[in-house]
Amino acid sequence: MTYPTFSTDCQSMLCRFLTPEMFEALKDVQTSNGFTLEQAIRSGVDNPDSSIGVYAGDEESYILYAALFDPIIEAYHGFHPTDAHRSDLDPAKLKAPNPDPEGEFILSTRIRVGRNVADLPLGPAITREQRDEVERRVVAGLETLTGDLAGTYYPLTGMSPETQRALIEDHFLFKEGDRFLESAGLNRDWPSGRGIYHNHDKTFLVWVNEEDQMRIISMQPGGDIAEVFRRLVRAIAGIGSQVPFARSAHLGYLTSCPTNLGTAMRASVHIALPKLTEDRERFEAICAKHHLQIRGVHGEHSESEGGVYDISNLRRLGVTEVEAVQDMVDGVVELIAEEKRLRGTA
Ligand code: ADP
Ligand code: ARG
Repeated sequence: MTYPTFSTDCQSMLCRFLTPEMFEALKDVQTSNGFTLEQAIRSGVDNPDSSIGVYAGDEESYILYAALFDPIIEAYHGFHPTDAHRSDLDPAKLKAPNPDPEGEFILSTRIRVGRNVADLPLGPAITREQRDEVERRVVAGLETLTGDLAGTYYPLTGMSPETQRALIEDHFLFKEGDRFLESAGLNRDWPSGRGIYHNHDKTFLVWVNEEDQMRIISMQPGGDIAEVFRRLVRAIAGIGSQVPFARSAHLGYLTSCPTNLGTAMRASVHIALPKLTEDRERFEAICAKHHLQIRGVHGEHSESEGGVYDISNLRRLGVTEVEAVQDMVDGVVELIAEEKRLRGTA
C-alpha cells in the first residue's frame, strides 16, 4: 500500500495528521489480531468527508499507531498523552434539575455509553465467531436483569423490515448501511450477530455489535436528565457484573472510534429552539462554550427536521461521566434561557 492521496479540500483529522513519514514507519506494523494501519485508516480514505476517519481494531492499535491516534485524541477531546482519565458515575454529584419542567423545549433525553468485551478484538478486527460469542455473552448477561431493566433481545436476523424501519424512525435502533462503518469493516457479516435489547417501555436499550459491541442506552420523553442518568448507571452496573468491559487506565473504556474513548458517553436532548436557531452563529457559540455538539434529529450525519436538534456533550475522555453530562445540562440551561430572552418571556 502507498500513502493515500487526499483531496485538497479534505478536512478530516486523518488528512490533518497522517504524514508520509508516519505512514512509511507504520505501514507494515500489525497488532496481534492482524489489524493494520491500512485497515485503521480505510474509512477516512474511502470517505474524504469524514470528520475523523480512523478506527481501532483493538487496544494495541491505540498503542502501535499512537503517532496517528494521539494527535487525533488530543484534537478531539483536548486530552494529552500524559493525562490520566478519571471515572465518576455517581448520580448524586450531578446537578440537573429538569431545565424545562413545562416541557416547552425538550422533547426527549438520551444518554448512551459504548462498551466492548475485555480480551476480545474491537469490531473492526473481530472474527465472525468472536462476534457471535459477544452476542451470546451479552445476551446472557442482559437476561439476568430484573425490575424495570428486564426486557427482551431482538436479533436483527429475522426482524421484519417494517419493525426495523419503525425502530429506527422512532430513534431506538441503529441505522443500516453506514458507509463509515462499512469501510471500517464494522458491517461484515451483517446482520448476523447484531440486535437490540429493550425493556417494555423502551427506556432502557442495548445495541449489540454495531460500532461498539454494546451501546447501553437510557432514554425517555422530556427533560428529566437526572432520572435518565440514574437508570443508565444502574444498567451499566448490572451488565458490568456479568460481562467484563474492555478498559485501559490511560484511555478509559476502549471503543472502536477514538471520539468515544474514556467515558464513551454521549448525553443528548432533542430540543426545539426556534428563535435562537434562526441565529446560527449565536446558537453555535453557546454550544461551543459548553463543549456541545449539534446533530440532526436522526443522529449523526443527519439534518434537523422541524427545528429539532440533537445537542450533546462533545468531550468524552479526560472528563468524568458526571462532568460529561453536566456539560450538556449547563449548555441546555443557557440555550433555553437565551431562547426565552429572544422570545421576550425570560
Ligand atoms: P449514538 O448517539 O448512539 O452515537 P446517533 O447520533 O446515530 O448515535 O444516534 C442514534 C439514535 O439515537 C438516532 O436515532 C437519534 O435520533 C437518537 N437520539 C439521540 N439523542 C436522542 C434524544 N435525546 N432523544 C431521542 N432520540 C435520540
Ligand atoms: N468515522 C466517522 C467520521 O469520521 C464518524 C466519527 C465519529 N462518530 C462515530 N460514530 N464514531 O466522520
